[in-house]
Amino acid sequence: MNFVRSLKQFFKQRWHQSRRFRIGSWIVLTVLSALLVAVPVVLSQQPVTLRLLMLAPDIPPYKVLVKAFEAENPGIRIQLDEGPNSANTNEDLYTTSFLLGNSPYDLINMDVVWTPKFAAAGWLLDLTDEVSPQDLAGFSPQAVESGRYEKRLYRMPVRSDAGVLYYRKDLIEQAGLQPPKTLDDLMSISKTLQEKKAARWGYLWQGRQYEGLITMFVEVLKGFGGFWIDPQSLDVGLDRPEAVRAAEFLRQTITQGVSPPGVTTYVEEDTRRIFQAGDAVFLRNWPYAWELVNKDDSRIKGKVGIMPMVPAPGQPVGGSCLGGWGVGIAKTTRHPQEALKAVKFLTSQAPQKAYILASGYVPSRRNLFNDPEIVAKYSHYPQLLKVVDQAVLRPSIAQYAQASDILQRYLSAALTNQQTPEEAMKAASGETRRLLEAGKKK
Ligand code: GLC
Repeated sequence: MNFVRSLKQFFKQRWHQSRRFRIGSWIVLTVLSALLVAVPVVLSQQPVTLRLLMLAPDIPPYKVLVKAFEAENPGIRIQLDEGPNSANTNEDLYTTSFLLGNSPYDLINMDVVWTPKFAAAGWLLDLTDEVSPQDLAGFSPQAVESGRYEKRLYRMPVRSDAGVLYYRKDLIEQAGLQPPKTLDDLMSISKTLQEKKAARWGYLWQGRQYEGLITMFVEVLKGFGGFWIDPQSLDVGLDRPEAVRAAEFLRQTITQGVSPPGVTTYVEEDTRRIFQAGDAVFLRNWPYAWELVNKDDSRIKGKVGIMPMVPAPGQPVGGSCLGGWGVGIAKTTRHPQEALKAVKFLTSQAPQKAYILASGYVPSRRNLFNDPEIVAKYSHYPQLLKVVDQAVLRPSIAQYAQASDILQRYLSAALTNQQTPEEAMKAASGETRRLLEAGKKK
């Protein structure tokens, strides 16, 4: 107290004695009050940063969307964190961050099959009342549906996806052949061109034990007339002859030398690189690869055809798996208003068009498939819309991640000769049925 008293005394004396002291004190006081007002204002103007984790190869095209958003919203930034190269490892990262609490993510880049699990776990903000039915009407219904859980909307579609078959138009033409109509054609064309040494490999597909293996497999399965899980009845079709034949077909592509033995370790980008290096006749992949295989520095620029996946002989149509990515908001975000602004912008018409034009991704907004500027660059889009509309859906169930994991393990065992396709599919069926039964009891 003494100290305060003597300080007061000192100020009083100096104030009366010195004009300089009086002026100096005024200046210090003015600066301090200005700072007191300015600091909170500056702090409140610091941009809000919204974080989003995304597969690394998907980041460059997404920057088109982010830049446009930031230009229109100077107070908000979107930070894209580079995730690993496969869909389910990204899912694991998000899952771990929510389970541990304190997730750093505000926005969630969501695969078409994640909504039921994330919504059931309570990790997502409910967007139902934020988006009008007119807004939703512009999107492919399946893409919207995959964002709902128990009739509430948790994810808005940013882009769709559908598996397609790429083929070397030039090599097939030069050999006087026609593009395949069935999987048998695909095998025989491959062998013919491999014998002629036109290409080292016939057919590339994604065989690593991960989500991409499932998307590729449901296509072959459909091509054999089979199914995985019926989402309504929860019937499991994996031990039926069609499923065993589908697994057997994939194994034969390896044993007959049409696909490289390494195919059981490949994800999309591994297969795309081998194809782009000119080393294979056929590639199963998503439409994103079109833009890349036709880049100026690509060895096969202009030599590639794209078509729907072909079925087994005697089956009406081949299967294309519906994929796609959308965006949801983490319940734990500290910036829900800004996050909502971002979701609305990222999924709106003009930014979507720029994004699709830059990336060659499949639109979620239906009018973009026939947009003249887009068709001028990607002439296959009107046909792609038909493929998307008939695409095979992965079952929309809350236990999706576990069901996928079961099938991944057993398929992988069959493809790497640890089990026969029949044993593997039978075991996968049993485990899947037990999982679904346990889910029903809950
Ligand atoms: C693509 C699809 C996605 C799928 C993934 C599998 O990114 O869009 O739906 O799960 O591939 O690798």
